[in-house]
Amino acid sequence: MEIIATAKEMQRRSEQLRLEGKKIAFVPTMGYLHKGHLTLMHEGKKRGDVLIVSIFVNPTQFGPGEDYERYPRDMKRDLALLKGVGVDICFTPPSQDMYPDGFQTCVEVEQVTKNLCGTSRPGHFRGVTTVVAKLFNIVKPHLAIFGEKDYQQLIAIKQMARDLNMDIEVIGIPTIRESDGLAMSSRNTYLTAKERKEALSLYRSLLKGKELFLQGQRSAAKILTEITGIIKEQKSATIDYVKICDVHTLEDIEEIKGEAIIALAVKIGKTRLLDNIILKEE
Ligand code: PAJ
Repeated sequence: MEIIATAKEMQRRSEQLRLEGKKIAFVPTMGYLHKGHLTLMHEGKKRGDVLIVSIFVNPTQFGPGEDYERYPRDMKRDLALLKGVGVDICFTPPSQDMYPDGFQTCVEVEQVTKNLCGTSRPGHFRGVTTVVAKLFNIVKPHLAIFGEKDYQQLIAIKQMARDLNMDIEVIGIPTIRESDGLAMSSRNTYLTAKERKEALSLYRSLLKGKELFLQGQRSAAKILTEITGIIKEQKSATIDYVKICDVHTLEDIEEIKGEAIIALAVKIGKTRLLDNIILKEE
């Protein structure tokens, strides 16, 4: 596996691959890899000739007081995992390369970033879309793969690619879970054993929501009452939001017609976790 540590060198390498007629698949990450990330990479291997993965903990998507400094990092372990999957190139830019002195340009997707995490983490999605736009310009992929676990992020990136005429196919992959249902996340490592158990209430509550929907319940308020009830039983849980939204606009829905998403962000102790489930007639 090649490791490339500067933006200039990455651009040159990608240009060369394109001239060779290679289809470049790209998976951006912040490292501390788990099976969710690796599933995205397997998909990338299938869909492209060359698979490039980036590892960069992006400071601009963390708000003041969030976990940027203590975000888990283990480059040695990550590189071993990437080799195991058969990643061709790992791109690990230094911060100075991504945000040089005098940096002052950003990408902001408007409507779809307003609700959900956009409300509780102001500036977060501007950081995400800016860094992803930069990574796209550096890696020059034909296709890029993202997880549906971060559903609003996926929608914002699809919107950005469409709005800015980026010639990149943005692909979403379903959430990968631990065997007991907890959505995999690098932040799960923050959880104590007791919190880990209480965190299972997130997926359990989403499954309950889906069950009610499949039994014919179409009132968002009624489904949300059930879900928040299950989460509030947990001592360590503080709900940031639980909402039922349109799968495209991410605006709140009162009466579910066709497809919808239940999306939630809950703090378990100090750890903020996300999860979601799609409601669709089966
Ligand atoms: P990170 O949290 O490292 O996630 C990298 C990618 O893995 C994202 O597309 C995310 O949605 C996906 N992912 C995480 N957990 C997953 C799971 N359990 N199942 C499936 N996919 C999962 O998301 C980011 O980094 C950053 O915001 C980034 C896009 C790299 C920009 O900095």
